[in-house]
Amino acid sequence: MNTYLQLLIASTASRVNKSGLPGPIPINQSPFDENLFSEDMKLKSPLDVPNPMRYLVVPSQETEIWKEYLDSKEWLERKYSIEIEGEKRAIPLSELFPLNLPTNLSEFEIIEKNAPEISPNDYLGHLKKEIGDVNYNKFKRFWPQSFDLIGELVIVKIEKEVEKFTKEISHSMISHNKRVSRVFRDLGVHGNFRVRKLELIGGSKNLGGATKVKENGVEFNVDPTKGYYSPRLATERLDTLECAIYLKTKLERKLNICDPYAGFGPALMPLIKEKGLVNYILANDLNPEVTTILEENLITNNKENVAIEIKCKDARKLIENPKNIGLFDLLLVNLPHSTIEHLPLLVGLLNNNSTAILRAWSIIDSEKIKQMEDDIKKLFDSLKYPISNIIVEPTRSYSPTQVYTKIEIWTNESS
Ligand SMILES: C[S@@+](CC[C@H](N)C(=O)[O-])C[C@H]1O[C@@H](n2cnc3c(N)ncnc32)[C@H](O)[C@@H]1O
Repeated sequence: MNTYLQLLIASTASRVNKSGLPGPIPINQSPFDENLFSEDMKLKSPLDVPNPMRYLVVPSQETEIWKEYLDSKEWLERKYSIEIEGEKRAIPLSELFPLNLPTNLSEFEIIEKNAPEISPNDYLGHLKKEIGDVNYNKFKRFWPQSFDLIGELVIVKIEKEVEKFTKEISHSMISHNKRVSRVFRDLGVHGNFRVRKLELIGGSKNLGGATKVKENGVEFNVDPTKGYYSPRLATERLDTLECAIYLKTKLERKLNICDPYAGFGPALMPLIKEKGLVNYILANDLNPEVTTILEENLITNNKENVAIEIKCKDARKLIENPKNIGLFDLLLVNLPHSTIEHLPLLVGLLNNNSTAILRAWSIIDSEKIKQMEDDIKKLFDSLKYPISNIIVEPTRSYSPTQVYTKIEIWTNESS
């Protein structure tokens, strides 16, 4: 080994990558990561590397040393691998590598060759490959920058300017993520049940909209073509679990829980799985297509043998059954556009003899939050439920004037 090489080894050995972390430099998160609900996610632009590529040809036994050296100068093209070049090795060079060979590398040869195809790192990269640079750049600002990933499904809004590329968009999404079996175009929310109108634009035609999702460690079935489901509330549902565990400890007994707008049951899944937490669950939803799946989900995940009742009626009628009055320690109300309107006929389901919790979610004009809090206090007062703690907290914006708000009320806490 020559002296220069020895010096080089000493200098590169102490180098760390630019991230300051050992090991490879972290890359950005893939847009198709498990359970990513990607509405807020911005995609990176597709991968662009020069072709043909330049390679530095070095003796094979010195490959690692020169690779590290090039990397330390940001001259290594990390997206490609080192190629065999006869007895030697060809190291791919980044665009930052000088046009004139630096003197310390003058003993080596530079070759140009077509780099092997590499897979784009997001769906836009696949799309660009599929429709060509000209079309891609022409419509650049209209390509969907975000989408929902629900189990095996992608749900995406497509602007009318790029409607003619619907097939290519869906095809690129499937090419990018092998887990995706169907792509649906989102045509907006419809009807009383606020179900999305979804048009299948790619993938298997005979599977419908059914898919399995995994949330907070629990697997269950959903079908966004039949009912509402959003993974976005997954952390809220974990908070519900935390509240429930705390309440159970306080009451020193298992809980009775009511979810009158249960959907496919995502809020109930972690509760039912928690050892020794739940005594009885009343799960209700007015949409019969949803309750069929809800029932399957509850039965499959009921390893703790919790007593379960599933109803398919207007939630405001649950109170008409005397058995339900004052029965529940935890009540969930997730009908964001009508929560406040329905509340007067739901509060009576709460147990008024010991501490009970209402967790609700509402969409409201940001200017009316204080008013809403006052109205809720008045309602509980009129129904003789003593509030010990109330939290009304905007969590994110829903529209330019409205916010999505979490409401949590604790009653009878001193008992
Ligand atoms: C926003 S979704 C919430 C679903 C579920 N809790 C979740 O977090 O994914 C509201 C659900 O309430 C149901 N629904 C609408 N009006 C209802 C009513 N009057 N009584 C009972 N359920 C109703 C809808 O079918 C829908 O599944």
